[in-house]
Amino acid sequence: RTVFVLNGPNLNLLGTREPEVYGTATLDDVRDLTEARAAQHGLAVEFRQSNHEGVLIDWIHEAREAAVGIVLNPGGFTHTSVAIRDALSAVEIPAVEVHLSNVHAREPFRHHSYLSPVVEAVIAGAGVHGYAYAVEQIAHLASED
Ligand code: DQA
Repeated sequence: RTVFVLNGPNLNLLGTREPEVYGTATLDDVRDLTEARAAQHGLAVEFRQSNHEGVLIDWIHEAREAAVGIVLNPGGFTHTSVAIRDALSAVEIPAVEVHLSNVHAREPFRHHSYLSPVVEAVIAGAGVHGYAYAVEQIAHLASED
């Protein structure tokens, strides 16, 4: 049983990108911590990052068959993408939206998410730990079926 952990644009630069906002941990560090937390629940992690909207959509479709849930940090697509929302709506498995930063404490254009209405839960502002919390929630939801 596998959790897809999908990361959107610019998250490949994590650790060096605006560290005062996003912290100094790298995406490899995030991978390590999500894998460790998932393993505690007997879950494997498929961890990916893309800067391309269509690639993220293809992975959400793939998760339909391959995963028990999706953890998604959509990056800037959070605030723009009807197409990623539609992909999430098309998939039955639970998804949790994660943001490293507290988007509600930032610029007004970050306060609206196209995705939040169609996911199970949203975690923002917990830094890299948010990914571990999201994996916890997927494990919880997946154990109820
Ligand atoms: C982000 C918040 C988004 O507003 C931003 O565009 C990102 C990262 C976060 O993890 O805090 O790229 O999703």
